[in-house]
Amino acid sequence: MRNFDEDNITQAVLARVAGAPSPRVRQVSEALVRHLHAFVREIEPTQDEWTRAIGFLTETGHMCTDVRQEFILLSDTLGVSMLVDAINHRHAGDATPSTVLGPFYVAAAPELECGSDIAAGEPGEPLLVEGSVRAQDGTPIADAIVDTWHSDDEGCYDVQRAGGPEALSLRARFRTDRDGKFWFRTIVPAFYPIPDDGPVGKMLRAQGRHPYRPAHVHFMIAAPGCETLATHLFLQGSDYLDSDVVFGVKDSLIEPVVMAGPGSTPYGARLEQAMLALRREFVLADARSAA
Ligand code: BEZ
Ligand code: FE
Repeated sequence: MRNFDEDNITQAVLARVAGAPSPRVRQVSEALVRHLHAFVREIEPTQDEWTRAIGFLTETGHMCTDVRQEFILLSDTLGVSMLVDAINHRHAGDATPSTVLGPFYVAAAPELECGSDIAAGEPGEPLLVEGSVRAQDGTPIADAIVDTWHSDDEGCYDVQRAGGPEALSLRARFRTDRDGKFWFRTIVPAFYPIPDDGPVGKMLRAQGRHPYRPAHVHFMIAAPGCETLATHLFLQGSDYLDSDVVFGVKDSLIEPVVMAGPGSTPYGARLEQAMLALRREFVLADARSAA
């Protein structure tokens, strides 16, 4: 077939991808062509605009390194990461809600003993983080791996600073005790702008948007037989809770920073002096209930 024009090009491309051996590849390809052509028909780009759009995607790719994932930022800031997350967690029952993973997770964070200070040497207001992990049937989960990471008191992650992997800070993995509890010391994180010195930052400015996320602590919690949970605790009262640039805030993930101690705390820490604390019981979804 030849002589493609506005009226027949979409059908022609759909026919071309209809023979994909994999039904899923066929479904995805057809939807991609239908939606992409509809988008172009709606916006009617000039040739110059289309060249700039391709330049934007090219720049997004060039911005990516081992520690900078501009495509994740693009997905996050367009709400696609949270949409994918919502689609994949439709039937979670009373399980702790998930939220966007973000680009600053490091798989190789050190495993530390409960009670460790993950902020050794960092300036900031000391904070106790303590919690527990249980299954949906109420059983405490011992030996769950609680991976945690957060920004410093100026809103910067370790991997954003010069220094390489040996400079990891404000992140660690803990193992829950036999009652499913964990606790560690750190500092109060600050709200921060996502990296906005690349094409995603240009996009946000062009859209008249700010680049900020409210203050939060990330958690990735894994245990056999359960769906791995990627979530945050947002600090009650933080700026930007109502305008998170990546649409990640859920009311049920906002927790107050309270005064704890001195003495024993509800999750097993012993404090010689009173200090600020962030607390949470996490509930992992049964792996079989994953969407
Ligand atoms: C984060 O919370 O670490 C994050 C999430 C999405 C984009 C950028 C950062
Ligand atoms: Fe974060």
